Amino acid sequence: MRHVLRGVIFDLDGVLVTTDGFHYRAWKELADELGLAFDEKVNQRLRGVSRQESLRNIYDHNRKPLPTDDVFRGYCDRKNRRYVELVGGMSPVDVLPGALRLLGALRAAGIRTGVASASKNTPLVLERTALRPHIDVVADGNDTTRSKPDPQVFQIALQRLDLKPEECLGVEDATAGIEAIHAAGMKAVGIGGQAVGAERVFGSVLGISVRDLMIVFEEETRKG
Ligand code: BG6
Ligand code: MG
Repeated sequence: MRHVLRGVIFDLDGVLVTTDGFHYRAWKELADELGLAFDEKVNQRLRGVSRQESLRNIYDHNRKPLPTDDVFRGYCDRKNRRYVELVGGMSPVDVLPGALRLLGALRAAGIRTGVASASKNTPLVLERTALRPHIDVVADGNDTTRSKPDPQVFQIALQRLDLKPEECLGVEDATAGIEAIHAAGMKAVGIGGQAVGAERVFGSVLGISVRDLMIVFEEETRKG
């Protein structure tokens, strides 16, 4: 039986846009103010996970007990205000190289596209970067109750595409995201060194053609 690729669902931060550096900066500034240790290595554990889970990870790394709920919420809000400020300076030049070309080529090939992001700021980022018209459906942190590695955000994107997981590929830069793609029943394409467990890993979307995705999909689907 021939397996035909009908949809590709992309993570946003670190896959289509450069926002991962802004998340890092906003967390780093907060951690410095609170006297909490935080560096690029700890930051890798925050990729793809929700804002609250990220702060829990930072406290966990510092072996410090969590503050009260109100204080915790206040810290999350403070990080988010700084992040939103940084995103406010974004423009279409912050779309990662190759992303627009790949989205356009998929559409031209009749393959539907989606975004599945943990971020509640997805609508803002898509608006600042003018990416929204290039993507068929969006599911994000405003739609979900569970964070990656739970498959929920990918399942919502699949529903909105009206496609089955066996017809689609997911593209992710974070290990939690690769796990979420697999838990949703899809094969995973990884971006960069943190995409552990993906069926195939590319350096960035710049290196990916529609044909590459079709080949990965057909080969991996045949394997079962
Ligand atoms: C993910 C990022 O896309 O969104 C994480 O990789 C971030 O670093 C998460 O924590 C939630 O984002 P936001 O914008 O809702 O705080
Ligand atoms: Mg990401």
